Amino acid sequence: MSSLILGFESSCDETGVALVRVPDGAGVPTLLSHALHSQIEMHRAYGGVVPELASRDHIRRVLPLTEHVLEEAGANLCDVDVVAFTRGPGLAGALLVGAGVACSMAAALDRPVLGVHHLEGHLLSPFLSADPPQFPFVALLVSGGHTQLMRVDGVGRYEILGETIDDAAGEAFDKSAKLMGLPYPGGPVLSRLAQSGDPKAFKLPRPLLHSGDLDFSFAGLKTAVLTQARKLGDALQERKADLAASTQAAIVEVLVKKTLAALERTGMKRVVVAGGVGANRLLREQLDSACEKRGIRVHYPEMHLCTDNGAMIAMAAAMRLQAGRETANKEYAFDVKPRWPLDSLR
Ligand code: KG4
Ligand code: ZN
Repeated sequence: MSSLILGFESSCDETGVALVRVPDGAGVPTLLSHALHSQIEMHRAYGGVVPELASRDHIRRVLPLTEHVLEEAGANLCDVDVVAFTRGPGLAGALLVGAGVACSMAAALDRPVLGVHHLEGHLLSPFLSADPPQFPFVALLVSGGHTQLMRVDGVGRYEILGETIDDAAGEAFDKSAKLMGLPYPGGPVLSRLAQSGDPKAFKLPRPLLHSGDLDFSFAGLKTAVLTQARKLGDALQERKADLAASTQAAIVEVLVKKTLAALERTGMKRVVVAGGVGANRLLREQLDSACEKRGIRVHYPEMHLCTDNGAMIAMAAAMRLQAGRETANKEYAFDVKPRWPLDSLR
């Protein structure tokens, strides 16, 4: 016997729906199907996410995506045993769409429902990969809104070792890209452009690199990029790839060195990278090569599951239930948590 969890993600600019099968006992849950709609094209004209447009688009997409997911898995809505949704953190209106749909669907089906922490979804997403990690590990969580180093001893056992005191790593990519006139979302565009640039062309700061703690700061780097861009003036156009490469090198160097410091401090031999910036190729290359030399295993989510998706939400719900951290219940009155620290989870 096994059970099926239907998961909804709607915390920001991606509508994600997925179906995960949970075996009885301690077996690893498997992804049966998932579907995603990215709103990037819609928000691009505004240079960033417009919350009200995001909420309205989630409403439009969520049911067709659900039908698609069920069809692909050869399942029926009545086969679903538990409905999971992202409860926070994220944009309040966007979260309310997923929560409303999940809770009303669960009520109509008379099934239990479970609200999931978005960052726990990212954190546990590598368990959906072909080479899943084992607890304990150090986690580097690098998304558009968060940059954290964590000690992870099991599901719900998270200790924050360090975090950003201002901008997140993804934000540093996005804001620097915007300053260079690159389209939203800047991270992937900047890193693509960086491939043809010289990472040593501009001397940019590595904030808090030698601070002795595991915290990050990226706001100063963004200011340095702005100063460089202004200094270049008209020449920016032809030096853009060099500036992109130099910016990426600065962000990646700080992320890699702080992660190594966290591994050293905890004595752990395993690291998990999660969140949108985990898709960055330079970060993967540099972390892999530094860890290989030290006999440390690195785990990533599958490339297409690095950014927001429904699979990680269904997976986190599955793992919380399996670990006995949570019991799904038939309380259909819902709330969302736009702000929700990960280490407050149990
Ligand atoms: O995890 P995510 O999808 O959303 C949040 O929960 O925030 O992360 C999105 C972030 C954005 O800042 C985006 O620019 C960044 O991840 N990102 C990248 C890459 N792909 C996505 N940053 C650098 N290089 C990439 N290849
Ligand atoms: Zn995310």
